[in-house]
Order: sequence, then C-alpha cells, then structure tokens
Amino acid sequence: DGGVYKYYADGEWRTSSSGKSVTIYNPSTREAQYKVQACTQEEVNKAIDSAKAAQKLWAKVPLWKRAEALHKAAALLKELKDPIAECLVKEIAKPAKDAVSEVVRSGDLISYTAEEGVRILAEGKFLVSDSFPGNDRTKLCLTSKIPLGVVLAIPPFNYPVNLAVSKIAPALIAGNAIVLKPPTQGAVAGLHTVQCFHRAGFPKGLISCITGKGSEIGDFLTMHPGVHCISFTGGDTGIAISKKAGMIPLQMELGGKDACIVLDDADIDLAAANVVKGGFSYSGQRCTAVKVVLVMESVADDLVSKVNAKIAKLKVGAPEDDCDITAVVTESSANFIEGLVKDAKEKGATFCQEYKREGNLIWPLLLDHVRPDMRIAWEEPFGPIVPVIRISSVEEGIHHCNASNFALQGCVFTRDVNKAMMISDAMETGTVQINSAPARGPDHFPFQGLRDSGIGSQGVTNSIAMMTKIKTTVINLP
Ligand code: G3H
Repeated sequence: DGGVYKYYADGEWRTSSSGKSVTIYNPSTREAQYKVQACTQEEVNKAIDSAKAAQKLWAKVPLWKRAEALHKAAALLKELKDPIAECLVKEIAKPAKDAVSEVVRSGDLISYTAEEGVRILAEGKFLVSDSFPGNDRTKLCLTSKIPLGVVLAIPPFNYPVNLAVSKIAPALIAGNAIVLKPPTQGAVAGLHTVQCFHRAGFPKGLISCITGKGSEIGDFLTMHPGVHCISFTGGDTGIAISKKAGMIPLQMELGGKDACIVLDDADIDLAAANVVKGGFSYSGQRCTAVKVVLVMESVADDLVSKVNAKIAKLKVGAPEDDCDITAVVTESSANFIEGLVKDAKEKGATFCQEYKREGNLIWPLLLDHVRPDMRIAWEEPFGPIVPVIRISSVEEGIHHCNASNFALQGCVFTRDVNKAMMISDAMETGTVQINSAPARGPDHFPFQGLRDSGIGSQGVTNSIAMMTKIKTTVINLP
C-alpha cells in the first residue's frame, strides 16, 4: 500500500482513513526505512469496541485451547526469526545476533506463559467461614481468577518484540483482549509479531495493533474508558500516563540508573567483564544497563584499566555486521547523550577514551573520577557511556544508589556472600544481582522497579496475576 505497512484491527490488515503515515528512520543510515499508518482516534475506538466484544467470548474458551493458540504463535514467531530480526536491525540498529536472540527469547516467553497460565489459572482457594470470630461453618467461599477485559500494551523501542509479547501473552492466556501500540522505532517488528498471532488463529478483534503518532492517539488510548489495564515499558511518559489513567491496574517499567558496586575483595576480572557487558551491550540502551560504577578506591585503577582493555576490543559500526556498538536510536537521543558528555567534560571527569560521534553512532566511553555534581552521575544516558565514581566506603556507594530517583536494579561484586547479602538488603532497588550485571531475564523471574523506575512487578507469573482479578462465590448453607 504505497509502501506503508497496514495496521491490524478486527482480524484484518487496514489502511488508516487519516491518509497519513509515520516514517521510521534507520538509526544507522538516518534515512527513511519504513512507513506505518497514522491511525485516528476513531480507529482506536473501533479497535477497542471489537476487543470488548471478542474478549467476552475469549474468556469462555477453555484454558487449554488458549494455551494451544499461544504455542502456535510462539512456533510461528520462531520460524520467522530471521525476517523479524532484520526489521530490528533496520529499525532500531540492534546487532544482528542480538536481534535473533530477542525473537527466539520471545517465542520461549510465549510458550512459558502458556504453560504457567494453565497451571496458575487453574488454581483457586476454598475457605470456610468458621475461622473468623463469630461465624459458624455456614459459608463456603470459592475464589477464581477472572480476566480484566481489554489490556493496553505499550512496549519500548529497545525490545519491540520481546516487551510486546511479555504483555500480550499473559493478557491472552488470562482471557483478556489486547490492544498493542508499538513504539514508532520498532513498529514494523511489532506488526510482524502480531502477524504471528493472526496466523495462529486468534479470534477476530481480540488483538489489534494500532500504529500512529503519540501526540494524536497516545493520551486517547491511555485515558480510554474501554481500557481496563495498561502495561507500559519506556521512559518518563510512564509517569505522565500513571497520573492520567483511570482507576485501573497499571504495570509500569520505566528508567533505571543501575549501580554496580565493586568492593575491594571482588574478582576484578569478573567485575570488569560485567561492567562492559552490562554497560555497553546494545550500546547501553537497556533500562537494566550498568549506568554507574561505584568502585572502592583501592581497586579502582585495576578495574578501570581492565574495563578499558575490554572497551578497546568492542567493535563499533553497523548492526548488520553484528558490531557491539551501533548507532543509538535517534538523533535527539545522540544529542542528549552528547549533552551529558559535555557537562562531564566541563566539570572535570577523566575521559578514558576520546569522545567520538558520527551521526547517531557514539563510540564507547568510560568516564572516570565522576563526581556527584555531574549530570552523568544521576541521569540515564541510554547510550554507550559509563561513569565511574570512586568511593572510600561501602556506605558511600549505598548512599549514592539510594539517593537516585531511579531504583530498578543494582549489582554488587564481592567474594564475601554475607557482605553481599547485607548490601543487597541496604540497596533500595527492585532487584540486586550478586556478582553479575543487572538483567531482566530469565523472563519468569520477578522484575520490578521502585520509585521512578515503575510500579507493579513483571515476570511471567506476576504479569498473569496482574492481568486478572479475584472473583469469589460464597455458598451459604442453611
Ligand atoms: O530495557 C529494559 C528491559 O526490560 C531490559 O531487559 O535486562 O533483558 O536487557 P534486559
């Protein structure tokens, strides 16, 4: 259709009546790569109406059949891993191998969710009344988990497939309908993902994929009275959505400033490998990336030199060539990162490498001797820049970590497990990793942020639970 990808609603691929499209720019070439439909508010209304009707019937489909359909979608997604990964390479400059892993991981996530769903949704509770004071055994209470209705899924650009299915699969297994609003960069990968669900035979209207401009349909979707739950992953927008949304369950995974605390008894080779992997994979564009290193002064020189040696080996270039460091997603993102670098320069940080940028491609950079008055000490670059703050006590590290407005994950490197546990207790973040870089996966682990990093907990089991409500039936005996 004039080179514009169609959106998906009511079981069909459609052209928007707006006659407008949204252009997706390839981050590496900065040229127009794809176009998607700019849907209208009227089209959103129609998709939500169809979702409502389809959901009523879907909730009555036996659980094992819902699971079967999800397994089919998972298999199709894995079959199409190469073409979908190619979209990720072109739309978000994800290195080729990581792009394939994202799709495969997503297929596994769908299947695991189907399996988990048939187990946990089959279970309920049975209570009797005489355990509460003043009651005889005359009331029997049965609980079950019922769907919420229509779930709105808004994944981010950095995992357009994986963080779409981590919302779609739990919603569907629990008997909900889904409206997916993919990110602009990543929308085509999102549409291909939805195509797998379409081909797996899910009922008409149950799933829709609405593409378009946030300014036109963003608030309209998130404030829509027909939406019964929002699962969002992204940046600050999530805070605005939370304030505007109605009285519905919200699952928000927002930014992070994950700290890596390195103690003087740490395995420095291990810590250095994890700083590089955690800080620079997908060019630092992960909410769980290592975003500040807090290292004890006594081992700082050793750590910094080992990290620098590894940075020197990172391949910088095209995602098609599977380079480690690729262009960041947009020019405005690159400009923002550059602003943080300039601020650090002016305030006297030590540049371990020369700052280098070509278009959206930024070379990996370690900033040593960062101080708390620098923006990079607190802000999230979402790029290949890692600041190092040298600390003289563990308490100083914990204090820095807890003073952040973000609180997603953190990690600590030490050979002393007791110390590690005490630090984990003291770090006020959703997760603490001991002797490894922060990460969301495996995808069935609970995943949550405190403070501005989000609300609710993800992970397969928690997402299914969050997308259901408890219904009780009480049998009153004579
Ligand atoms: O960007 C946010 C993602 O949830 C991080 O996932 O730890 O698998 O890269 P990841």
